[in-house]
Amino acid sequence: MQVEAETVMCGIAAIISKNFRNVIPKLVRMLKNLEYRGYDSCGFAFLDGTSLVVAKAKGTIDNFVKKSGILKQTSDIGIAHTRWATHGAVSDTNAHPHLDCSGDIAVVHNGIIDNFMELREELERKGHIFRSETDTEVISHLIEHYYSQGKSFLEAIKMAIRKLRGTYALVILTRHDGDKIFFARNGQPLMIGVGNSEIYVASDIPAFLEWTKKALILRDGDIGFVSRNEIYIENVINPDLGMPEPIEVPWDPDQAQKGEFPFFMLKEIYEQPDAIQRTIMSVLHKAEGIVDDILNADFIYIVGAGSSYYSSLYAQYLYARWGLRTMAVIASEFEDIAGHVVDRNDIVFAVSQSGETFDTIQAVKIAKKRGAKIISLVNNMGSTLRMISDKSIVMGAGPEIGVAATKTFSTQIASFIVILKVILDAQGVDYEEQMKSLSMVPRVLSEKMKHFDEKAMLIAEWMKTKTDAFFLGRGLGYPIALEGSLKLKEIAYIHSESYPAGESKHGPIALIEKGFPVIEIILNDKNYDAMIAGIQEMKSRGAMIISLLPEGDQKASELSDHIVEIPHMHEEVMPILYVVPLQLLAYHVAVKRGYDPDKPRNLAKSVTVK
Ligand code: G6P
Repeated sequence: MQVEAETVMCGIAAIISKNFRNVIPKLVRMLKNLEYRGYDSCGFAFLDGTSLVVAKAKGTIDNFVKKSGILKQTSDIGIAHTRWATHGAVSDTNAHPHLDCSGDIAVVHNGIIDNFMELREELERKGHIFRSETDTEVISHLIEHYYSQGKSFLEAIKMAIRKLRGTYALVILTRHDGDKIFFARNGQPLMIGVGNSEIYVASDIPAFLEWTKKALILRDGDIGFVSRNEIYIENVINPDLGMPEPIEVPWDPDQAQKGEFPFFMLKEIYEQPDAIQRTIMSVLHKAEGIVDDILNADFIYIVGAGSSYYSSLYAQYLYARWGLRTMAVIASEFEDIAGHVVDRNDIVFAVSQSGETFDTIQAVKIAKKRGAKIISLVNNMGSTLRMISDKSIVMGAGPEIGVAATKTFSTQIASFIVILKVILDAQGVDYEEQMKSLSMVPRVLSEKMKHFDEKAMLIAEWMKTKTDAFFLGRGLGYPIALEGSLKLKEIAYIHSESYPAGESKHGPIALIEKGFPVIEIILNDKNYDAMIAGIQEMKSRGAMIISLLPEGDQKASELSDHIVEIPHMHEEVMPILYVVPLQLLAYHVAVKRGYDPDKPRNLAKSVTVK
């Protein structure tokens, strides 16, 4: 049997009813709300009287619910799991929960246990029989081992986790102590939702947001249980830490539902006017707290992954115009780029929607060790990144469920513009015109959304049969081109690359032949003439030119096969508008090609592994 650490990203859900009502439909619902965290396999464990029942299988939650008949079952306490594997087989036996030998202890886990092989061998020598190939299974057997020595169940869990090396969010259900859901956290997110008639435990707030906004965010080292009348938490790393303070989640439950939209991605694209509006207000209030840090820093590294890296790059271009010494760094490259030079006079500005991305957290840990100050920009207020930062700014984008970032990209850019305004204010530098433009973005975007959507749909009809595309831009247009290219690649599976337009002469142009789609991000700035020259070069080699251009721009229009006109506003702000038609283009191409844009293959919303 091949045994390997799973390297998984998962969603965990658990629920206990305070008044002995059936929780199974809500448990299924919680898992559906977390499906964006993984969709390879799923499983449930609940108590039926005093028996522990486990049902699990590979495949989607919807299929599982249909086939297993789980909704016909009743129970007032249960745990569940949805899994996304990057390696390690996707199979029924590898699906969580995992049991001990007796079948009395069920464990669901998010994370990786690095030393599971040696623990497994040790337990096998003691006679434990393993059923799966997972690292998680050692946890249920370890707890069984300590519990059989006469410890309390909580004590047995504590002793078990002392043996684990790695990261985990754990939720455990047992018939030995069947009125409680046990949990432990180290390096993976886990939170408790406190409802009127139920208590929830989950990897993320959207899991329970439709029933309660009151949450407790667990910290590394927290271990405890929820029962019908008690929430017990102690911290094994720092025993002096009391209970975490409850927070009131500022999100609206509707924000975590699709409503009348066919997909979360489309809903989240349409939400951008509101999300940007909220973000402007919320970042404006919080940015003052970081101004001195930024002005006193020698150097600012802006670190992110995926779309969060592209918004970081936007910030680098923008801040450089105003004399701030910044560099955007891809989180997974941070160690090699800055690991030996970052120091206590520097700031690492970590950007992450989820606040859980492994690479970003890793970069932060490296920078912290070298004494740098950490400021984070996150969307998820209960995130690990927020907890390990010296200061943190939470955007007001609301929950983002679609795997591909949309509204959190535009709100990250809006946040950087607002932060810049507050910095420049402190220096007595005028940034009013840009702020005026930014404050107009929500209204302009609302007015233009339908138009952008129709245009994108038309272009998508033509794009849907293409196999490759280039996205080109210069200056502030380049990060936007990168983001547009990423969207098309990740949800429509069209091979797509993005270059600074000037660089496209140094290689990419060799691929241009008749009908090759080139998407041009044409801004009304000092790079305009160079962009036009580049388009002419592409066109003369047969490329099909799709231009996003300033409204009324005749010159670029005449050179283009398709155009999307973007309303004028200040050149430092206007690029936010450009990203929206690009998101819609990727969305429509994906749908026309028959793909689910909310669940792109092989991708996960938050990548919590190396
Ligand atoms: C994954 C998601 C992307 C996201 C990236 C960074 O790859 O699919 O949409 O941009 O992670 O995520 P973060 O939560 O750190 O912004």
